[in-house]
Amino acid sequence: MVDLRSLLVAGVVLLAGLAVLVHGAGDEQFVYSGFTGAPLALDGTATITPSGLLELTNGTAQLKGHAVHPAPMRFQRTPGGPVRSFSASFVFGIIPPYSDLSGHGIVFFVGRDSFATALPSQYLGFLNSSNNGNFTNHVFGVELDTIQSTEFKDPDNNHVGIDVNSLTSANASTAGYYDDGTGAFHDLTLISAKPMQVWLDYDGETAQVNVFLAPLRTPKPTRPLVSAAQNLSGVVVDPAYVGFSSATGTVRSEHYVLGWSFAMDGPAPDIDIASLPKLPRFGPNPRSKVLEVVLPIATAASVLGVVAVVVALVRRRLKYAELREDWEVEFGPHRFTYKDLFRATEGFKTKMLLGAGGFGRVYRGVLPKSKREVAVKKVSHESRQGIKEFVAEVVSIGRLRHRNIVQLLGYCRRKGELLLVYDYMPNGSLDKYLYGKDDKATATLDWAQRFRIIKGVASGLLYIHEDWEQVVIHRDIKASNVLLDSDMNGRLGDFGLARLYDHGADPQTTHVVGTMGYLAPELARSGKASPLTDVFAFGAFILEVVCGRRPVEQSMTDSRLMLVDWVLEHWQNGTLADVIDAKLKGSCDEEEAMLALKLGLLCSHPLPAARPSMRQVMQYLDGDMPFPELTPSHLSFSMLALMRSEGFDSFILSASTTQPLSSTAMSIGTMTGLSDGR
Ligand SMILES: *[C@@H]1O[C@H](CO)[C@@H](O)[C@H](O)[C@H]1NC(C)=O
Ligand SMILES: *[C@@H]1O[C@H](CO)[C@@H](O)[C@H](O)[C@H]1NC(C)=O
Ligand SMILES: *[C@@H]1O[C@H](CO)[C@@H](O)[C@H](O)[C@H]1NC(C)=O
Ligand SMILES: *[C@@H]1O[C@H](CO)[C@@H](O)[C@H](O)[C@H]1NC(C)=O
Ligand SMILES: *[C@@H]1O[C@H](CO)[C@@H](O)[C@H](O)[C@H]1NC(C)=O
Repeated sequence: MVDLRSLLVAGVVLLAGLAVLVHGAGDEQFVYSGFTGAPLALDGTATITPSGLLELTNGTAQLKGHAVHPAPMRFQRTPGGPVRSFSASFVFGIIPPYSDLSGHGIVFFVGRDSFATALPSQYLGFLNSSNNGNFTNHVFGVELDTIQSTEFKDPDNNHVGIDVNSLTSANASTAGYYDDGTGAFHDLTLISAKPMQVWLDYDGETAQVNVFLAPLRTPKPTRPLVSAAQNLSGVVVDPAYVGFSSATGTVRSEHYVLGWSFAMDGPAPDIDIASLPKLPRFGPNPRSKVLEVVLPIATAASVLGVVAVVVALVRRRLKYAELREDWEVEFGPHRFTYKDLFRATEGFKTKMLLGAGGFGRVYRGVLPKSKREVAVKKVSHESRQGIKEFVAEVVSIGRLRHRNIVQLLGYCRRKGELLLVYDYMPNGSLDKYLYGKDDKATATLDWAQRFRIIKGVASGLLYIHEDWEQVVIHRDIKASNVLLDSDMNGRLGDFGLARLYDHGADPQTTHVVGTMGYLAPELARSGKASPLTDVFAFGAFILEVVCGRRPVEQSMTDSRLMLVDWVLEHWQNGTLADVIDAKLKGSCDEEEAMLALKLGLLCSHPLPAARPSMRQVMQYLDGDMPFPELTPSHLSFSMLALMRSEGFDSFILSASTTQPLSSTAMSIGTMTGLSDGR
């Protein structure tokens, strides 16, 4: 039998329990959608405006304001016990005095109810200089900070931070949110004068704090903006209050809260967005009565003007549009604006064109501000791949300083285009003097000048290979990349450009026959550049300068003449002196020329290990070290050795697959024939 009385008692107990629960819910959560009549405890500059905004600061500098929920919340179930889970959410807005500067910020806090000794400015009305970081503060907060205070290790001037007893945040992040759909991060500007919503969740079970931010009317994101593993037990102690603190510094901003909700042990109730008060207008004061009369007339008149200006501005923007990305910030000083370069070159006029090479066109220009003469190289570059590394390299190359190196001043990036700015070299590139049709120019380059240019380029190469802080490989040494300054000194230009096209097939380079003869066989095979591949190209360059011929020339019979083979053949025949450029007859120091030719051959050795380093090259050229006793057969012999060790067949096979290589393969083929004949 069921005892009726005990059943009745059980029923009464149950009802009483329910009542407690309902009552408890009332105490343990609240929601304000606008603050008209809200019983908040206010101090400092804080007021509730007639429209229902909670105005924490009012536009006066160096002041603080607080708004505190009047009753403390029960954060611990038992005195001294662990802190329970809780959630808060609020909508805020910051009206800055200037669109790009504001100060200082808002803190949503859990802790004490009096901040009489707290300071404004960077202390946000939350802490002061002597208690910051002290665990006896027993305060926890989420800061919306619009000034970067390095003393508190702030990441920037627009961040959300989790503060435990300290303004040095346990974790902080630039304001923004992660899109639920794409996962992309969208930046938000705290001082945008637009309302935004913050959600704060503390999970007592896992001791985890998560903070979310989003523009008003965007649902709470799934991924938190900033989080921290922080056990608030011991930090928050009863009785603890919840509220807002805000402060201005030297910059006078208005900080507003539009709505606020809070709950223990559950999600904060939804704020009724539709009934929130409106933020004051950002910008100049509303127009006066007089203006209201004048304005319609003025408007009509100015609409046309505005349209014209907008059209002009848009066109101008497009004309000077550049590509800029975050990673470029550190390269700022090396960055030129397109506008300056456009002006410097008079709009890249044809009359300013200095030349067009494998990688792009080069224009002469005068920088508008400094009046410095520059050469601007326009390189078309569609792929974004590798551009970051390349720009980093450009900037590091810009730090090279040597009298045989063309100074790279900086760069600019546009869609599909890279612009490199160099010092202007009044005498142009060396190839023009070697093969120029203009006889007057060629006549002026005598042997002494050529030898000085060879030595100069060698010294520039030695600097980048061995004497600078890091090893730089030029990758494209050839006469057309050697420029002559006003004293006819040779200077290396066009650093590293070849790298930009390393991985993408650039039709231009594969068709430029001129660069073919400079490619070291191991480079063509493996694609790996090294100082020794530069030495190989430098060898071809020496021969080019001494003989006045290109490394690869199309002969009458349509077969290609390899300069290296031709010189080697003459050496074998004992007629090496015949290869010297006929234009040098008379001015030539034959001994120096012989040395240069043999050095050129040695540098062009197909075996990388047999090539000298640039330091040795320099010593040979300066006569500081005797040139080794070499005979033509030394070179031929080692080439045979190379073929045996590398497997000549596979070499030819790999050679025929890439175009630039075929010339190298041919050169070696010819050489085999020669040595067989002896
Ligand atoms: C802001 O509040 C302070 C203190 O309540 C007051 O002295 C000041 O005049 C107020 N400023 C404005 C612009 O209302
Ligand atoms: C900082 O605040 C503490 C109370 O938290 C107070 O005792 C102290 O005097 C204040 N220091 C200053 C410099 O205002
Ligand atoms: C922290 O604050 C307490 C009480 O105000 C004080 O006695 C103590 O010296 C402070 N500790 C530090 C490291 O400042
Ligand atoms: C947090 O600290 C309290 C008191 O020290 C402890 O009882 C509780 O287990 C801790 N919570 C977590 C998740 O570590
Ligand atoms: C800081 O917050 C971010 C975002 O939630 C999180 O990925 C990161 O692990 C946190 N860092 C620390 C030290 O808690």
